[in-house]
Amino acid sequence: MAARGASVQRPNGASQGKICQFKLVLLGESAVGKSSLVLRFVKGQFHEYQESTIGAAFLTQTVCLDDTTVKFEIWDTAGQERYHSLAPMYYRGAQAAIIVYDITNQDTFNRAKSWVKELQRQANPNIVIALSGNKADLANKRMVEYEEAQAYAEENGLLFMETSAKTAMNVNDIFLAIAKKLPKTDPGARGPQQGAGTVQVNESQGGQKSGCCGGK
Ligand code: GTP
Ligand code: MG
Repeated sequence: MAARGASVQRPNGASQGKICQFKLVLLGESAVGKSSLVLRFVKGQFHEYQESTIGAAFLTQTVCLDDTTVKFEIWDTAGQERYHSLAPMYYRGAQAAIIVYDITNQDTFNRAKSWVKELQRQANPNIVIALSGNKADLANKRMVEYEEAQAYAEENGLLFMETSAKTAMNVNDIFLAIAKKLPKTDPGARGPQQGAGTVQVNESQGGQKSGCCGGK
């Protein structure tokens, strides 16, 4: 799916902003915290007893980068193996993916690597992939070293952060980092997904804010 750019005329007519809409998919083993990350990002909530996803869930959230509004259309997939065959429906046409593992479970990191391979083979070649080492609040039960995951991410050109849906650590940040990396196609300037003009990011908003910039 192409990034859809649209100009927004500000009330005073002085400057224009763009709205870009992107399809983002979350993938990873069951129980690593995909739904919890989305719930934290979209609603600012966390549930200790989050139900396992059936099929997939769809949510949207908007972030603002300087004069560009990025709207994420988020597909939160089910990690249970029996749903694996559905995954291509969700990652096909996606411009971004977050592949999640649980830092307390080495198997989930291995599974994350196989998702990376699958996306590299079958997804949109320009897809922006982020790797999330979730449950960072459980550092005393850590089985996957930060450095190991970071080195893997570097080798494969992935964004990487350890996150915690429980404490909210790095949750907004990983979505913001993706938003910054996505090409904001200038309507009429270049074809879709060609990496046209990156936006000037207002760093003061970086890191903590989700939701749109209100009065900005
Ligand atoms: P599926 O839908 O089955 O694919 O699982 P999922 O990846 O969506 O996992 P889910 O969000 O349902 O979370 C599984 C369990 O892990 C729940 O009990 C969550 O409360 C817990 N959990 C999720 N994120 C965190 C986290 O950052 N820290 C801790 N301590 N627990 C978490
Ligand atoms: Mg889920």
